[in-house]
Amino acid sequence: MIDKQDILDAFNFRHACKTFDAKRKISDDDFGFILECGRLSPSSFGFEPWRFLVVQDMALRERLRSVSWGAQGQFPTASHVVAFLARKEDMLPGSDYTEDFMRRVQKLSEEGIARRHIFYPQFHQSDFCLDTPRAVFDWACHQIYIVLANMMTAAALIGIDSCPIEGFSRDNAEAVLNEGGLLEDGRFGLAVMAAFGYRVSPQPAKTRQGMDEVVRWT
Ligand SMILES: Cc1cc2nc3c(=O)[nH]c(=O)nc-3n(C[C@H](O)[C@H](O)[C@H](O)COP(=O)(O)O)c2cc1C
Repeated sequence: MIDKQDILDAFNFRHACKTFDAKRKISDDDFGFILECGRLSPSSFGFEPWRFLVVQDMALRERLRSVSWGAQGQFPTASHVVAFLARKEDMLPGSDYTEDFMRRVQKLSEEGIARRHIFYPQFHQSDFCLDTPRAVFDWACHQIYIVLANMMTAAALIGIDSCPIEGFSRDNAEAVLNEGGLLEDGRFGLAVMAAFGYRVSPQPAKTRQGMDEVVRWT
């Protein structure tokens, strides 16, 4: 087991790094570890509504930066940038994606699939009211933020810095990605991005509400 203090140290070490040391690259082994921690993240019904697009093409990064006010220092200096893509219509009940996923990835029995055919549409229609394309996309995005958090924490645990990036125009960033066919004709949308690398400056003091402000016990 990992020592609790080591985990807390990693949470305190992690900060939203604004500029990275452009000369330092994350090793393939370390970045593979970070991606693996993302891949192992949980998802609703286990359907993994995501793709992790690692943007190492500096020209593409620069184009994304031009529509990302929140990534001005990060994108040119980060060792690795990830654009987290969310599936759209693929997440609808009865889609080819979910049908194939249940059989090929989850290896569900025919009885298990039959149960899913009842519960998954019910979840969409009444439990969570995923009744518009936007609601479905947002639901996929929520799940991707778990991946994002896991990858940032994994990075911090091995001394690697990161920054979550939501400071972009979604329409414009998707247009950039679309030009390269990276959204597969609207099959994916852009949920959030993140930069990874090594800090150049010390992090500012952490500010957080006290435990008594954020937690209520009943
Ligand atoms: C979803 C999300 C999106 C964020 N987007 C940006 C961003 O675009 N640019 C940036 O510099 N920081 C971004 N941040 C970082 C936050 O500003 C930062 O996490 C917060 O101020 C707390 O500081 P700390 O992470 O250094 O502890 C984002 C954080 C989250 C969780």
